[in-house]
Amino acid sequence: MKFHLQTFGCQMNVYDSESIAGILRAYGHETVSTVQEADIALINTCSVRRGAETRVLGQLGHLKTLKSRGIIRYIAVCGCMAQKHGEDLLKERGYIDLILGPAALSRLPCLLDRLENHDGPIVELSQLDIEDRDDFVPNDGPISYPCFVTIMKGCDRRCSYCVVPDTRGPERSRSPQNVLDEIRGLVDRGYREVTLLGQTVDSYRYDNTDFVGLLEKVNAIEGLRRIRFATSHPADANERLLFALRDLEKVCEQLHLPVQSGSDRILAAMRRDHTREDYLRIIDRLREIFDGISAAHQPAISTDLIVGFPGETESDFEETVDLMRRVRWDSAFMFKYSIRPGTYAATLPEHLDEETKARRLARVIDLQHETSREINQRLIGETLEVMLDQPSADKRKHSGWDGRSRQGKTVKVAGVSPDAQPGDILCVRITKTTSYTLFGDVVSYSVR
Ligand code: SAH
Ligand code: SF4
Ligand code: F3S
Repeated sequence: MKFHLQTFGCQMNVYDSESIAGILRAYGHETVSTVQEADIALINTCSVRRGAETRVLGQLGHLKTLKSRGIIRYIAVCGCMAQKHGEDLLKERGYIDLILGPAALSRLPCLLDRLENHDGPIVELSQLDIEDRDDFVPNDGPISYPCFVTIMKGCDRRCSYCVVPDTRGPERSRSPQNVLDEIRGLVDRGYREVTLLGQTVDSYRYDNTDFVGLLEKVNAIEGLRRIRFATSHPADANERLLFALRDLEKVCEQLHLPVQSGSDRILAAMRRDHTREDYLRIIDRLREIFDGISAAHQPAISTDLIVGFPGETESDFEETVDLMRRVRWDSAFMFKYSIRPGTYAATLPEHLDEETKARRLARVIDLQHETSREINQRLIGETLEVMLDQPSADKRKHSGWDGRSRQGKTVKVAGVSPDAQPGDILCVRITKTTSYTLFGDVVSYSVR
C-alpha cells in the first residue's frame, strides 16, 4: 500500500512517526509525499491543548472529502487523540478506518491486512505499560536532523492541567542496552547527533542506571558527536545533571527546563512539585557551575510557560513576568491555559476569560522576544561550533545552510563548501542576530 503520514504534536510524536514509517516500509509499503497519491492516510495526533485537537479535526475533515471522492481508501488516526478518545472518535466520525494508540504501533502491518480483508473499522488501544518499554523500530529514513531517540515513555507526574499521563501511560524507562543499540545503529548509518526524549528525562532510571549514568554511556559511543535531551523536570534536576552539561564533552550546553508559572500559589495548584525558589536555585547553580567559561560554551536555558491558569490573578501573573526578568531564558514556549476535559484543573473554579489569557500571552511573548534578541545580540563576533542540518529552504533570502549551535540555536551559515553534508561540524563567526536566528560565516571546517 502507498501511505502518507502527517505528524502533529511534540518530538515524541515525530519519533513515533519515524517508527510507523519504518515498520510499514519493512513490510513492503511505500511512503508517498502527498496525501492524494496515498491508499492510506495516517495522522499522528496530539491532545495537549484544544487548538492541537482542532487542527487534527480540521485535517480529518479534509481526509473525509478525499475518501468520499475515492482519492484515498483508508484513514488511520494514531497517537494521543486516538488513545484519549478511542471509540468515541469512531462514533462521531464513521469514515475513520483505524484508531491506533501509541503502544500498538508494531501491530500496524497486520491491522492494514485486516482492513484489506474488509475487517474494519478497527480500534486498537493496547495497554500502555511495561510491555512496550523496549519496542523500537530502527529508523531507516534519509538522514535528517534533529534525530530523536525516546529513552522513556509515559509520565508519572500529575500536573493538574495535563493530559499526557492519560495518553501516554505511566513512566517506563527503556533499558540502557536497548537505547545504546538504537543509537549505535543510527551512528552506523551516519548520524552524528541525537536528542534523547522523555516527558521528564531526568527521572530516567533502569536498575542502577539513572539519567546521568545513561548520558555517560551515550557519551562513550564512538562516532557520535553531539547529545541533546528534553524535557527535564525541575523536581528531578540534580547537581550531577548540571555538571554533566559542563563536563561530558558530547552533551550540548542546552537545558529545557519548564517552569510553567512564576507564582508559588499557581505552581501548587498546577501540582508541579517545585516552587519558584527551587527553580531559581537550579538556574543560579547552573550559572555558577559555568562561571568563567567562554560565551560559546555557556548553556542556553529554555522553558515552557502557561498563562491564565484557573485562578491566576494579576499579581500571580506579575510574578511570572518578574521570573522572566530574573531568569532571562534564551527562549520559551508560551501557552494560554487550555481546558482539558478529564484533568483536575478543568474542575477548578475561576476559569479566566479568553481576553485576559490572550492579553497575558501577548505580554510574555513580547518580553521574551526582547530578551531573546538581547541575549543573541551578545553573540555577534563570537565563533560558535555549528552542525549543519540542511541547505536553507528559502534560497532567495539565504543561499547557505541551516545548522544549530551547541546551545541549540538556529544558525544560518554562509560560505559553506559545495560538498558539505548534513552533520558536518564547522566553526562559524556570528555576524547578525534576531530573536530566533543567528547568521554567520564559516571560519574553518573541523573534522567531518
Ligand atoms: N513533559 C513535558 C512537556 C509536556 S507538554 C514537561 O513536563 O514539561 C508540553 C507543554 O505544553 C507543557 O510544558 C505545558 O507548558 C504545555 N501544556 C500542557 N498542558 C497544557 C494545557 N492544558 N494548557 C496549556 N498548555 C499546556
Ligand atoms: Fe504533563 Fe507534567 Fe508529565 Fe510534563 S511532567 S507530561 S506537564 S504531567
Ligand atoms: Fe501532544 Fe501527546 Fe506529545 S498530547 S504533546 S503528542 S505526548
